[in-house]
Amino acid sequence: MSTLDITALNQYSNEELETRVDHGRLPRHVAVIMDGNGRWAKSRYMPRIAGHYEGMKSVREIVTACREIGIQALTLYAFSQENWKRPPEEIGLLMKIMEGYLKSELDLLLEQEIRFMTIGRPELLPKPVLRWIDKVETATRDCDKMILTVALSYGGRGEIVDAMRAILEDYRQGNVDLHDIDESLIEQHLYTAALPELDLLIRTSGEARISNFLLWQVAYAELHLTKTLWPDFRRRELLLALLDYQTRERRFGRTSQPDFPQTIGKPS
Ligand code: FPP
Repeated sequence: MSTLDITALNQYSNEELETRVDHGRLPRHVAVIMDGNGRWAKSRYMPRIAGHYEGMKSVREIVTACREIGIQALTLYAFSQENWKRPPEEIGLLMKIMEGYLKSELDLLLEQEIRFMTIGRPELLPKPVLRWIDKVETATRDCDKMILTVALSYGGRGEIVDAMRAILEDYRQGNVDLHDIDESLIEQHLYTAALPELDLLIRTSGEARISNFLLWQVAYAELHLTKTLWPDFRRRELLLALLDYQTRERRFGRTSQPDFPQTIGKPS
């Protein structure tokens, strides 16, 4: 299958989709821009927060599914730096959902041996959320079956700025020389330094933007864009995304084409 024939795959049951996933060619690191919660709620004449609440259930299901399937790292875009411009009531309720998620998931994360991490600039996050982040990060520190990273108050440009500042500080202190600054050094200073290379970026709800998410890391990632709204994105949708990924030929700038055949090209 060279391109994903979604119509054909949609005929398959969940069990059949599961068997089609090649566990030898899984993406190591999957990231998701979880979009469409508001539209999901609006289409049901419900308040936006109902969409976020349902979105949290998708988070739960996708975390467990990734762990079971064998994904090493899952990174979820939960709240961007730009999201601080949303109405304060929506921000407050989103933070409550975040706190509730952390409280309710700790045992499950430990049981599944999933390490929890956050990335972003935490300064503006409410104290109770910060306390729970600290608690869950500390409790799951030694878990090694999967890393779940939640991007909170996160911006990709901000992440690069923070990396630059850290490198300049090292330079100022004489720990880094100009010649030491290369891609690998920058990567070591990104929030994601502990994570494997990003292989697959999923965006839900039909939008086709990166929205300031993992700007550096996305360089060679495969993109899976789906019209499905995040609250409807469950295990079946994840399997479709993995199957889509497995149809891609990853070239990293190289070519898979052989050189021009000798018979072609001799200008007369
Ligand atoms: C984008 O949908 C979604 C968000 C800004 C929030 C995502 C948060 C969750 C899924 C809740 C819980 C998360 C965790 C990690 C526990 P939108 O509101 O922009 O939707 P719209 O584009 O349809 O309006």
